[in-house]
Amino acid sequence: MITLKSPREIDAMDKAGDVLAAIHEALRDFIKPGITGTDIDQYVEKLIAEHGATAEQKGYQGYEYATCVSVNDEICHGFPRNETLKKGDLITVDMVINLNGALADSAWSYSVGEPSDDIQTLMAVTKEALYKGIEQAKIGNRIGDIGHAIQTYVEGKGFSVVREFIGHGIGPTLHEAPSVPHYGEPNKGIRLKEGMVITIEPMVNTGTWRSKMDANGWTARTQDGGLSCQYEHTLAITKDGPRILTQQTGE
Ligand code: MF3
Ligand code: CO
Repeated sequence: MITLKSPREIDAMDKAGDVLAAIHEALRDFIKPGITGTDIDQYVEKLIAEHGATAEQKGYQGYEYATCVSVNDEICHGFPRNETLKKGDLITVDMVINLNGALADSAWSYSVGEPSDDIQTLMAVTKEALYKGIEQAKIGNRIGDIGHAIQTYVEGKGFSVVREFIGHGIGPTLHEAPSVPHYGEPNKGIRLKEGMVITIEPMVNTGTWRSKMDANGWTARTQDGGLSCQYEHTLAITKDGPRILTQQTGE
C-alpha cells in the first residue's frame, strides 16, 4: 500500500532529513586516507545520538551497523569494517535516520583523497542521474518516467544502471511501496500523487550493471570488478514539485 503523507508528516521527515544532511556534510572533512569504515560508522553513530535521533538501519532485518560503507566495486550494503581506506578509493556511505519516528534515507559517495579523473566523471554522472530522476518526480508523471530519465542519461554517458537494487517509498517503515527502479520506460507504472515520499538512489557502474552477492548475504558487488557509485535523496511529491528532504548545504 502506498501511504500519502500530510504536510505535517512531511515536515517531520524533513527534520530527520536535516539531521541526515548535516551528518553527510560532516563526513566531507572526516573521510580521508587512513581512516576505516568502522571509524566512519562510529562517527556517524555518535553524531546521530548527538542529534537525538536513532540509526534505523541498525537491527533492520538483522543488519548490524548504523551505516553501509561500500568500497570501490561494492554496489551497496557494504559492512563498515576495520580496513584502512586509501587515496583513490571510492566509497558510498548510506544511512537512515529516525527522528521521533520520522525517517529519512540518503546515501552519498565520497572519494578518499583527490579523485582520479575517471572517478570524478563517474561521481558527476551519478549525481546528475539522481537529479535527472528527481526532476521527473512530479504530480501526474509515472514511476517509469523517473527510471527512464536516469537510464537514458547514464547509458548515454557510457555507464550502466544497477537493476537489482531500487528506490522505494519510505515512511512509516523504511521500505514501502512504490518500488522506484532507476531504469524503465516513460509513461509506465503508477502515477505520482501529492503526499508520496520516495527515495531515488541510482547505483551507476563503470562496466556491467550485473552484480554478485557476497557470502555475507548482504553486500552486492559488480560482477566484473568495475567501480560503482551512488547518490540517494529522500523526497516528497508536492504541488510545488519535488521537495528534497535530505538536501545538503552547497548541493
Ligand atoms: N539505506 C538503504 C536503502 O537505501 C537500506 C539499507 S538496508 C540495511 O534502502 F539493512 F542495510 F540497512
Ligand atoms: Co533507500
